[in-house]
Amino acid sequence: MATYGEGDPPDNAALLCEFLRDEQPNFSGVWFTVFGLGNKTYEHFNETAKMVDKRMEELGAERIFPMGLGDDDANLEEDFMRWREAFLPKVTGQFGWELNTDAEGSRQYRLEWVEEGRPYFKGEFGRLTAYERPRAPFDVKNPYLSTVTENRELHGDESQRSCKHIEFDVSKARIRYDTGDHLGVYPTNDSALVEAIIQLLDFNPDNVFRLINVDEDATKRNPFPCPTTARMALTHYVDICAPVKSHVLRGISEYTSDEKEKAHLQLLSTASEEGLALYNTYIQKERRSIVDILKEHPSCKPDIDHLLELLPRLQARYYSIASSPNKQPDKIAVCAVVTEYDIGSRHIKGVCTNFLRDKPVESNVPIFVRKSQMRLPTRPNVPVIMIGPGTGFAPFRGFLQERQHFKELGKDVGAMHLYYGCRHPDHDYIYKDELEAFVDAGVLTHLECAFSRAQAEKVYVQVRRLKFLQDTK
Ligand SMILES: Cc1cc2nc3c(=O)[nH]c(=O)nc-3n(C[C@H](O)[C@H](O)[C@H](O)COP(=O)(O)OP(=O)(O)OC[C@H]3O[C@@H](n4cnc5c(N)ncnc54)[C@H](O)[C@@H]3O)c2cc1C
Ligand SMILES: Cc1cc2nc3c(=O)[nH]c(=O)nc-3n(C[C@H](O)[C@H](O)[C@H](O)COP(=O)(O)O)c2cc1C
Repeated sequence: MATYGEGDPPDNAALLCEFLRDEQPNFSGVWFTVFGLGNKTYEHFNETAKMVDKRMEELGAERIFPMGLGDDDANLEEDFMRWREAFLPKVTGQFGWELNTDAEGSRQYRLEWVEEGRPYFKGEFGRLTAYERPRAPFDVKNPYLSTVTENRELHGDESQRSCKHIEFDVSKARIRYDTGDHLGVYPTNDSALVEAIIQLLDFNPDNVFRLINVDEDATKRNPFPCPTTARMALTHYVDICAPVKSHVLRGISEYTSDEKEKAHLQLLSTASEEGLALYNTYIQKERRSIVDILKEHPSCKPDIDHLLELLPRLQARYYSIASSPNKQPDKIAVCAVVTEYDIGSRHIKGVCTNFLRDKPVESNVPIFVRKSQMRLPTRPNVPVIMIGPGTGFAPFRGFLQERQHFKELGKDVGAMHLYYGCRHPDHDYIYKDELEAFVDAGVLTHLECAFSRAQAEKVYVQVRRLKFLQDTK
């Protein structure tokens, strides 16, 4: 059970959590245990898991194993592996069941080939015609195929990084958004990585197939939209860039003919101290993806349909909306700093930011709006202090546009103070001209910039804020 927002459940657990919190069902005779996915750097660490654990007990259910709390700031996968390692023997022992670890490797989906000429999914979600004939409402399960109307660099020539301002046209979809909301973006994987997997595993990537759940009563019939091809699944539906999960390593180890390579993959997926330490360095810290693993274990040749079943789904990435619907109701703007780094000789590129980076005007991107709790005060005359270094400024661009709109309508608007921070005024000071224009228009009443690398001493937004408070005492 994950925690998001301000200690909130994820969208697909919201109803369950509401039910547990507000209703009084009798859960006597029900056994339960909870594993939480959270991050210690957040104030409400694993709040959802803790609430579910507490309420289940209060409602009469019997806790058969202590709750586990995963910390994404450290190593969530390791936390889960340790918890599961202790949980499985305890629960099987308690009920007199036999622990069959082989079953973990058994297939959940069966492969069915589809005859040539039949339509198949090429990146759509839900319906085959979802992009040709879009139907509102648009959300995480039904994104809208928007058109890029602007894609420009925000960093100066001297910056070694890239930050893009991108606008999406949503006029035909009549998508409504509020200032402060988030935009979900579905990326596609780098075609070079898709091609690498095709070459390494040597299969026909364009045969059309379905993966069908062997459990006919299961609510999830397919692991991703089917029918499709392996090329489409690798491009749009599965994550081939993230550090490989331990269950994937275990699954593919069964297809490894070289004993040394097989033992390495098995050790990586074992919850022993040695296995966990190896996983931590080799996979987590060095961020090895499935492509790296297949390259470094050349005798590992999993069936592509099994690999596709094992890999996690490619997730949408979220970006703070950097525009106001009052100023531009038909367009949604975001700014995204491109993720790119080297580990040893490997150059690693963030999936979504590199997908967006070179998206030309008129190209298409699947998007949806996700409501957020970040809002301007309802009354326009309430003063606000905004602290947003780097792309953290994004939602405040929307706030400033919104207040400017009210000002132009002749409304009384409150003072707006902005603390903005970046490395150097000539390198990565994003939206500089716009900020100066907001100041000139009297919308942004106080602008403080903190540059961390423009002078000998480091200056950050908190330093500027403290100084302002001291100066105005
Ligand atoms: C609510 C919300 C709002 C957001 N708003 C914005 C926004 O307005 N603008 C913006 O740019 N981003 C924003 N983000 C972040 C954004 O969603 C993505 O996480 C980010 O763009 C990276 O996505 P990616 O697919 O390019 O990278 P991915 O392929 O997802 O890779 C990113 C991962 O790579 C790893 N990584 C990155 N750098 C290094 C390094 N040097 N060494 C080792 N590992 C590294 C980190 O684990 C990181 O999680 C927001 C996130 C959330 C949750
Ligand atoms: C916008 C956002 C808000 C979050 N809020 C919390 C929080 O309040 N408490 C917490 O423990 N973790 C929080 N997290 C961290 C996630 O719970 C953590 O990354 C977890 O691993 C997500 O699991 P999932 O990717 O499987 O959904 C938050 C993450 C994001 C992106």
